[in-house]
Amino acid sequence: TPILSVASEAYPLVKTGGLADVVGALPDALAPHGFETTTLLPGYAALADLVAEGEPVHHWADLFGSDARLVAARLGEHPLLILDAPALFQRPGGPYADPSGRDWDDNWRRFAALARAGAELAGGRIAGQRFALLHAHDWQAGLAPAYVRAFGQQAKTVMTVHNIAFQGRFDRAHFAALGLPDWMNSIHGVEYYDALGYLKAGLQAADAITTVSPTYAREIREPQFGMGLEGLIAARAASVSGIVNGIDPAVWSPASDPALPARYDAVTLDARAANRAAVEPNFGLASGSGPIFTVISRLTWQKGMDVLAAILDDLVATGARLALLGSGDRTLEDAFRAAADRHPGRIGVRIGYDERLSHLLQGGADAILIPSRFEPCGLTQLYGLAYGCVPVVARTGGLADTVIDANEAALAAGVATGIVHDGVTPESCLHAIARAVALYADAERWRQIQRNGMAADFSWDESGRRYADLYHSLLEQP
Ligand code: ADP
Ligand code: GLC
Repeated sequence: TPILSVASEAYPLVKTGGLADVVGALPDALAPHGFETTTLLPGYAALADLVAEGEPVHHWADLFGSDARLVAARLGEHPLLILDAPALFQRPGGPYADPSGRDWDDNWRRFAALARAGAELAGGRIAGQRFALLHAHDWQAGLAPAYVRAFGQQAKTVMTVHNIAFQGRFDRAHFAALGLPDWMNSIHGVEYYDALGYLKAGLQAADAITTVSPTYAREIREPQFGMGLEGLIAARAASVSGIVNGIDPAVWSPASDPALPARYDAVTLDARAANRAAVEPNFGLASGSGPIFTVISRLTWQKGMDVLAAILDDLVATGARLALLGSGDRTLEDAFRAAADRHPGRIGVRIGYDERLSHLLQGGADAILIPSRFEPCGLTQLYGLAYGCVPVVARTGGLADTVIDANEAALAAGVATGIVHDGVTPESCLHAIARAVALYADAERWRQIQRNGMAADFSWDESGRRYADLYHSLLEQP
């Protein structure tokens, strides 16, 4: 059964975060269940080569003011359609922002175009293209279910929330340009607190809503996590489910990872020492006996990075070291750089985005710190589990669903996979760090925690099946 996945990023073509990993992995995850996934992406400058080599399958003389084509290419072994609309997407900078980091002024138009193209495809309005179901990811694809509904199309729709904090809110004055029926300029459609809400529109219009962990699915019914959309989520609770992300073993396996100087598995964990030795010079760390913590993250409030930045002197005092790779808020970047200056040899900071280095850190650091205030799923703890890089996480969202705290009972039962703390405060984070340092000193217990994590199954098998079950149940409905 052909389905269309509409998104703004997909690994390995364009990635700013976990969304890309998931969109890139879904086609493989769904194929064993009889669903053939075509992915629709915007034709950013980074995709220019694919566009040039691809096969044009459709042309719009005017799609939101741009000449636009659909170009067929491949995403791995699966079909990819690229929305080649140069006036909208051929620019320097990132998918959402200009090179200085400022959101593009016309994002409302850029992602309306993506959504509309998706809906036209799903509606069979484009020759040679037919899809039983449209799966929209995050606000960038949020209008797609609304267009499907507006056009009165047959295709079923699924809206997946990867992060409800990003909602795609725009000036209500743009409504007229969207080409949606007037009734959608209301609380039943796109209108959201006297603005336009693209994610809101998708949540309202989609046949089913998913988010990326069961705990987050419950959390977003509450104001603390729902960020204004809690009422709508609660009202649609019967249609909301949480399906935890998997990880792609072709990209994230320590036994075959080309970024690692030493490859290993649960039996040959000692080989990690060579990777650890490669982490140290990369981050200017002196060799030492305490654990190396890593952070691989957007440096933002969501990720609790302000709290972590405030306790770095205490972290060093426990005898631990820190290797941080990340970028984000300027003040946080500066705070981490300042900590590295205060603690040469003990704290190493790389501001930037480096896919390869992120693999080395998972394969060489001892533990990964993820003190998120909210975390829809989180992938870096899953990579940590697979790599024997023990996750130290806040009890929220997908972190709570995927890491088992090493309390006495879990240790005794042999199921502990990490350290989980309640709340994101300097005290709770520091306490978790101290627990990790103490456990690390007990080499046998630490090894057991690493092995438990590596044995846990976070492949796409189960999650792919859950998406497939959801698709089946929707397609069976009239
Ligand atoms: P989010 O999508 O909220 O940022 P996730 O944990 O779901 O969080 O996914 C983050 C993804 O981005 C992971 O694949 C992680 O390895 C990667 N990542 C984050 N920051 C960096 C960085 N500075 N360099 C390389 N990869 C990074
Ligand atoms: C979002 C969330 C993250 C999740 C990712 C993929 O970026 O912040 O928790 O893992 O999407 O679903």
